[in-house]
Amino acid sequence: MNFKDEIKIIGLKEIPLIKKGDNIPEILMYALNRNGLTLQDGDIIVIAQTIISKCNGRTRNLTEIIPSEKALEIYKSLTQKAKIHGLPEKKPELIQAILDEAKKIVKYEHVLITETNHGFICADAGIDKSNIEGEEIITLLPENPDKDAEKIRKILKNKTKKEIAIIISDSFGRPFRVGAIGTAIGVSGINPILDMRGKKDLFGYELQTTIIGQVDSLSAAAQLVMGESDEGIPIVLIRGYNFEFNEKTTIKSILRKKEDDLFLDNEEINMNKLLKNRRSYKLMFAARSIRKNIIEECIELAQWAPSAHNGQFWRYIILERDKLRESLIEKMNEKLRIDLEKDGKSKGFIKSKVEKTRMNFFNAPTLILLCLDTLDLEKYADPERAQNEFILGIQSISSSATYLLLALEMKKLAACWYCAPLFAKDIIKESLNLPETYIPMAFFTVGYPLKPIQTPKRKKLKEIIFELNN
Ligand SMILES: Cc1cc2nc3c(=O)[nH]c(=O)nc-3n(C[C@H](O)[C@H](O)[C@H](O)COP(=O)(O)O)c2cc1C
Repeated sequence: MNFKDEIKIIGLKEIPLIKKGDNIPEILMYALNRNGLTLQDGDIIVIAQTIISKCNGRTRNLTEIIPSEKALEIYKSLTQKAKIHGLPEKKPELIQAILDEAKKIVKYEHVLITETNHGFICADAGIDKSNIEGEEIITLLPENPDKDAEKIRKILKNKTKKEIAIIISDSFGRPFRVGAIGTAIGVSGINPILDMRGKKDLFGYELQTTIIGQVDSLSAAAQLVMGESDEGIPIVLIRGYNFEFNEKTTIKSILRKKEDDLFLDNEEINMNKLLKNRRSYKLMFAARSIRKNIIEECIELAQWAPSAHNGQFWRYIILERDKLRESLIEKMNEKLRIDLEKDGKSKGFIKSKVEKTRMNFFNAPTLILLCLDTLDLEKYADPERAQNEFILGIQSISSSATYLLLALEMKKLAACWYCAPLFAKDIIKESLNLPETYIPMAFFTVGYPLKPIQTPKRKKLKEIIFELNN
């Protein structure tokens, strides 16, 4: 077992008020001495973030901050809701400071939940107003708490030759539970997590999932001694906790990966997944039809695509499995056969190509035809401008087609874009009795997938970004 029967948590008394540029290791050594203690191998020192921030000059004066429009907007909404919850008002200047520190505003209602540049999800970007002298002075989280912890550990190691660990802690609120607790924000010498997977429990069963957030437990324990208000004990010595000393540690290892986080409603991750997971599905579909309203919902989303002068030139024709669709596919295939013969392709090639195309369209539970409606394109007498207008019509419907594919992906439907209609425009227009101004542009086969498909490679970024060398 990794734990001893007894762990001592000793608050170091007589730590003076810390000022910018103070020497924390020296102050710590002095305090240990005054408390009748000397460092031992395996000791853990937990240091409150506030004194690290003050020592690093990570403070701001609210009177020097000018709130932005965004800060004022958040202030308005936050103040109303905070009042209902009996919480104090946050000044717009403080909200601006939070915005300056946060990588992202995760949510705000009566409280303001942020993601800091370190990746911590916490209220107010970890900005604190307590335990600092001066009404208008706030402390910001240290820029790199791991680095601060390491610096202190190394200096203490040099002075004492002892292998100790340093934890820098702050007090964070938690989702689902009331009450803030001590939480580690920087470490050195100790792994943030204790991986118990593979070890045996009391009854000899192998632990499958147990990972202990040991530095958070230690920070929470230390906080019991530090206190939150005027106790004035910003440094705590923990003795007797048995941990494996490790020189190379970072607090990052306790942060859950965004893609593993069930509760973080992260639009960016979802969007990333959607964009990267969409594939052109060219295999057999599951024998399951799609409800018409699902297809309509996807087309509704597809019409939010950009289009030149908002022309919305796209027209979608949903072709369910019926006689009309069958005969259209047969006619298109006949045209394909003739075209391939004209190209001088071999009989075998033509047979397999025609059969493959035929089956792709035949088997699709839903087939969608996309047409460009030329009616609303600007009319120009000069042929070049007319041609450009036609191109922008095509570009516009292509953007809608992309939205459609993404919307289908979102609904867990598989699809593929086929250009076959371009080669059989007249046949399609005639068979489906389409308006004169419609130009058939693409088919989308849509259905529920049967199998996963391989992801085609993408070019390297440097192959597609053209950089100007000045
Ligand atoms: C304008 C356009 C026309 C396409 N036409 C065909 C087609 O006729 N037959 C086909 O098998 N795939 C067709 N595709 C799908 C591409 O082969 C596919 O997008 C490409 O291989 C990349 O694969 P991914 O979509 O899975 O990323 C077409 C795609 C686009 C954008």
